[in-house]
Amino acid sequence: MKKTIIANWKLNPVSLKAAQKLAASVPFKAKNKVVLCPPAIYLSSIDYPNVGAQDCFWQNQGPFTGQTSPLMLKDMKIKYCIVGHSEKRAVGDTDEMINAKVKACLAQKITPVLCVGFGTTVEQDDLEAVDLLKSQLSLALAGVEAKKVIVAYEPVWAIGTGRNASPEHAEQIAIFIQNKYGAGKVLYGGSVTAFNAKSYLQQPNIGGLLVGGASLKAGEFNQIINM
Ligand code: PGA
Repeated sequence: MKKTIIANWKLNPVSLKAAQKLAASVPFKAKNKVVLCPPAIYLSSIDYPNVGAQDCFWQNQGPFTGQTSPLMLKDMKIKYCIVGHSEKRAVGDTDEMINAKVKACLAQKITPVLCVGFGTTVEQDDLEAVDLLKSQLSLALAGVEAKKVIVAYEPVWAIGTGRNASPEHAEQIAIFIQNKYGAGKVLYGGSVTAFNAKSYLQQPNIGGLLVGGASLKAGEFNQIINM
């Protein structure tokens, strides 16, 4: 089965022209399935078969200034939406809000990419991390058909730091998330590069990657999607 590589561009690049150039550098067909997640403001201007949003609101319309509606995403043919990224949790998203977003996406047939992961230091002991993961997952997936959800395991200490989790650790967590919660797919994210991507993709239970920084480098991202 094809693995899924999701590019999380975060708040980059800073012009539409540069965003379109970056999207045009990614071939429509690659060895793995590819999803591009540009900033919301560019969503309708990116020409790519699979486009995802980086976040959404849990209501479709109404007096909610500045929010992104799942219904509007669906109308724009957006098929995926990242929810619960640690950078959104850091500015106030709670597990309950994330659960509402997951449900709102599924109601529009948008696949939620639910980010979970804990540990702000690399030294944090695995058992503690698993307890926190359990609480994030059980709250975010409450009342949800988990097989329709992609879960991205991203230890917080690995995001944007150049310090990636070991593929063996990520594989163990992927097995745990699949067995206990029945997620459709489990991805790994956190300092993925062209140098380490293959070591994750070779793990049987890791269904793909969520790539931040390296997805902004056309050459490197093209290597990753064809591994
Ligand atoms: P990174 O980001 O690849 O730059 O570590 C991953 C993410 O935040 O999804």
